[in-house]
Amino acid sequence: MKDAIHNVQQEIANYTLANIQDTEKFRIEFLGSKGKIKDLFGLLKSVPNEEKKQVGQTLNELRILAEEKWNQAKAQFENTSTKSEGIDLTRTPEDALIGSRHPLSLVRSEIIELFNRIGFTVSEGPEIEDDWHNFSALNFPPEHPARDMQDTFFIQKGEKEMALRTHTSSVQVRVMENSKPPIRTISPGRVYRNEAISARAHCFFHQVEGLYIDENVSFADLKQTLLYFAKEMFGEKAEIRLRPSYFPFTEPSAEVDVSCTICNAKGCNVCKYSGWLEILGCGMVDPNVLEASGIDSKKYTGFAFGMGIERIAQLKYRVNDLRLYSENDVRFLNQFTPGV
Ligand code: PHE
Repeated sequence: MKDAIHNVQQEIANYTLANIQDTEKFRIEFLGSKGKIKDLFGLLKSVPNEEKKQVGQTLNELRILAEEKWNQAKAQFENTSTKSEGIDLTRTPEDALIGSRHPLSLVRSEIIELFNRIGFTVSEGPEIEDDWHNFSALNFPPEHPARDMQDTFFIQKGEKEMALRTHTSSVQVRVMENSKPPIRTISPGRVYRNEAISARAHCFFHQVEGLYIDENVSFADLKQTLLYFAKEMFGEKAEIRLRPSYFPFTEPSAEVDVSCTICNAKGCNVCKYSGWLEILGCGMVDPNVLEASGIDSKKYTGFAFGMGIERIAQLKYRVNDLRLYSENDVRFLNQFTPGV
């Protein structure tokens, strides 16, 4: 009898319960009404009376042992859904698809950050603008061609004719109207122009405007600020050159070129073999503009500049078709996924 009990005890200890089916088989084999433990209880009759108590106790312990093993296994396997069988939980997971930041948003952040480092804050203004902020306060004469339907999208807002802003210079007017010098701010935002869409032109794009107003701000300050920008953006070797230009709201005005980042100014088809790439417009804020915005032009001077984010992104990432920026083609966008 003792041997029989011992054998069953060993069998229970060695029984592997790997799933819910094993657990049920185990129950039937040991704890079922025709199971091995029941059989052993049946043999109790033949045990001499003086040993009955002792053997009975051992059998009870054996039953408890089997029940515990069964209960534990049952709890474990009932919780895991049967669907997970056959799935290897130790396998390395497949990479989750993470999105990427849009190249324009990457360049925009970079511009904001590098100007933040020299004390420029960020200001924003509305995309639907009135004539005053987009044109008149910026010294555009009433007959200036930029107001023409060809360049500007006009919309009717109640009685008032409004425009989709054609540049972020409208924000510098708002900032000057609402704050006192010293002013040091940049204004990133979307602008609109009524142009046929092609690789080189679009009806909307993005600009960053810069404005610095204080006593004694000079053209040298402007040049140094732009040189800092070019080096931070395009690398230590970058150089700039200024060419005289015209904007109604700045005097004097200049266009700024950066040394070609693609061929290191040696000459290539991107810079049309000149070694230079045009990146922005700038100038000293015209006194008329300061006065129109309520700033004393005898006491204060300032500079302003404006650049296209698409243009900077084009040079940084060599994207030569403007349409790619707004087509949401994942093959294009995925190229900007971090770490890829
Ligand atoms: N607003 C001008 C443009 O859209 C750029 C510019 C901004 C030029 C500020 C000079 C000063 O082309």
